[in-house]
Amino acid sequence: MFKISVDKQLCIGCGACAAQCDNFEMTTDDNPKAKAKESEVEEVGCNQEAADICPVQAIVIKKL
Ligand code: F3S
Repeated sequence: MFKISVDKQLCIGCGACAAQCDNFEMTTDDNPKAKAKESEVEEVGCNQEAADICPVQAIVIKKL
């Protein structure tokens, strides 16, 4: 299992993660941030690509 989280302090809302991986969605308020739809996943899958592509390294993947 892996825990997927987004550091909201770091996230600048660029949306790259959501474009890369369907486990991420953007909040819809006027200061959009990414959030993981599933915060605990069996396989890292595209979450890793999303973390790699994030320009501010806001996505944290932890092995549980
Ligand atoms: Fe935020 Fe990084 Fe995604 S800045 S919107 S977590 S690619």
